Amino acid sequence: MDGKIFIGGGGEEYASPQGLSLTYANRHGLVAGATGTGKSVTLQIMAEGFSDAGVPVFLSDVKGDLSGLAKAGRVDHKLHDAFTARAARIGFTSYGYRAYPVTFWDLFGDQGHPVRTTVAEMGPLLLARLLELTEAQEGILNIAFRLSDEEGLPLLDLKDLQALLVWIGENRETLSLRYGNVSTASIGAIQRRLLVLENQGGTQLFGEPALMLADLMRTDADGRGQVNILAADKLMGAPGLYATFLLWLLSELFEELPEVGDPDKPKLVFFFDEAHLLFDDAPKALIDKVEQVARLIRSKGVGVYFITQNPADVPEDILGQLGNRIQHALRAFTAKDRKNLRLAAETYRENPRFSTEDAIKEVGVGEAVTSMLLDKGVPGIVERTLIRPPSSQLGPITAQDRKAHLAASDMAGKYDAPLDRKSAYEILAQRAEQAAAQAAAAEEKAEDMEPMFREFNAGRRYSGSRVSRSTSRRTKQSGGGFAEALTKNVMKELSGTTGRRIVRGILGGLFKGR
Ligand SMILES: Nc1ncnc2c1ncn2[C@@H]1O[C@H](COP(=O)(O)OP(=O)(O)OP(=O)(O)O)[C@@H](O)[C@H]1O
Ligand SMILES: [Mg+2]
Repeated sequence: MDGKIFIGGGGEEYASPQGLSLTYANRHGLVAGATGTGKSVTLQIMAEGFSDAGVPVFLSDVKGDLSGLAKAGRVDHKLHDAFTARAARIGFTSYGYRAYPVTFWDLFGDQGHPVRTTVAEMGPLLLARLLELTEAQEGILNIAFRLSDEEGLPLLDLKDLQALLVWIGENRETLSLRYGNVSTASIGAIQRRLLVLENQGGTQLFGEPALMLADLMRTDADGRGQVNILAADKLMGAPGLYATFLLWLLSELFEELPEVGDPDKPKLVFFFDEAHLLFDDAPKALIDKVEQVARLIRSKGVGVYFITQNPADVPEDILGQLGNRIQHALRAFTAKDRKNLRLAAETYRENPRFSTEDAIKEVGVGEAVTSMLLDKGVPGIVERTLIRPPSSQLGPITAQDRKAHLAASDMAGKYDAPLDRKSAYEILAQRAEQAAAQAAAAEEKAEDMEPMFREFNAGRRYSGSRVSRSTSRRTKQSGGGFAEALTKNVMKELSGTTGRRIVRGILGGLFKGR
């Protein structure tokens, strides 16, 4: 199995080893099958194989059962005999138990190190999708991003965006002259959508320290690839957030990684579980973009594997790009099932030994119809493959083990505490404070003038009651030159990174001319 990841045994008596070629692992793949047919275990053994080959992987763990990768399987496990028998049957002589170098991540920061990105890095297109904005609302969001750049108001977290929207509302008339109609209704709608996102836990996703991609692409001291596991059980409750986040991650990888063509082995392999969530109700424009990212990210050495119950969940253009396939059993109860089954079977190179359609119907649990890319990227003839048993623990680790693992992780402390740098929210708040101070100062000056002028000025500025002198003095001091200098400094620092980032991002760079 040189240059290949061992997947299982195919052919007569399952005696012929089936492998996934590392050279073509960046040509993407599909793991499909009805519930309980073995998708998660297949994902687990693929992650193990890549890690052993020195390839880091990123996978989302929808049911929590993939956390077992962090622990070695055990001889006292109830399936130990079944596993060893299976290994013997497929000639997997080197089979044994071992743990893998796992890093746990969690958007909510509970079950893993927090994963954050900034609003600016997410970009207007993905954010609009995340917030399910209409075209008019998306227009306003685009204006917000423009203004953030032009006015030096960095958008890091959600409160920055909120503050900027308020500011846009206040300056609506001037802005409408420049950008066309900026309606309060649209601003209000975006603000309400932001509240929904906050309630879904979006607040934690946006902010700093933002995830550094290099932290997902590490190998350990033994040269084994890091297995990054994203806790996705809670995230499933907010499918939009889940899909958008993973899409963002892909686009970041695309942006940041250098072109490598077809490397000996991938730089990173990305498993997208419950992939149908990405495509359900997705607008055509977004699907086109996923298709585009999938096509382009290949040359960056990133392999993307979609895991889903039914291959029909994946749009045809994208399905066509998934070269390495592991198809577990599909049901054939209804007419629609049978149609899907036929369609799934049609996409494979027939094996004279059996009918693909029948095989997909018949394969047992932990068995699959497989087709991997061969030399020159040609799809191999379909095989009935008994998938190898896992070396790491089957099923989840305990909450206690996870905690201990997190504490011992070399990522501990790097992302755990949020960092709230000065950005749009703070700057706008300070501007408002300064404006108030200036008004107060002007008033104070007026008080030194002739009583008549004073009355006149005060009357003009305020129709109602006036701010008392003591308050205005205090305000004036705090809004003085120091704060202004500080703002300038911070801006200088921020405009180097965030400003630039606003205009890039697939969803701003590659996806700019939508
Ligand atoms: N390759 C394998 N080797 C040994 N046992 C396996 C293998 N694949 C699956 N099994 C057995 O089948 C069970 C179900 O598999 P798995 O959890 O992977 O199904 P699934 O398709 O992910 O299901 P779901 O859709 O419910 O998530 C496993 O717990 C294990 O006992
Ligand atoms: Mg599963």
